[in-house]
Amino acid sequence: MFARIDHVGVAVEDLDAAIALYETTYGMALVHRETVTEQGVEAVLLDVGENHVELLAPLGPDTPVGKFLAKKGPGMHHVAYQVADIDATLEALKAAGTRLIDETPRIGIRGSRVAFLHPAATGGVLTEIVEPAHGPQ
Ligand code: CO
Repeated sequence: MFARIDHVGVAVEDLDAAIALYETTYGMALVHRETVTEQGVEAVLLDVGENHVELLAPLGPDTPVGKFLAKKGPGMHHVAYQVADIDATLEALKAAGTRLIDETPRIGIRGSRVAFLHPAATGGVLTEIVEPAHGPQ
């Protein structure tokens, strides 16, 4: 069902400090930075091999990531798997009875199409599926 891990999502309170760690200390290339207003986050993508790390800083305390930080503090937020056809994947997950947060895809960063599965259905791991805008990247 899933092609590979697309990215690991990390919730951060201080985006610049996190970028310094990943970019300067770890030597990962920062490849994209985008504010996604509808998801209430500023997101940064860094390359690690063919995969990515996604740093997420909330735009405010009442956003999903803001609430996550208030409850759990900074750290691992979600894992994202890459799929070739997100509509087909969502249909297959629904057919399997998997509880979803997003019944239909929404627009993610870099024009990707994304949907979240409910952590109650995924063993407590917030899980995202990603169909890249222009094939695997
Ligand atoms: Co993500």
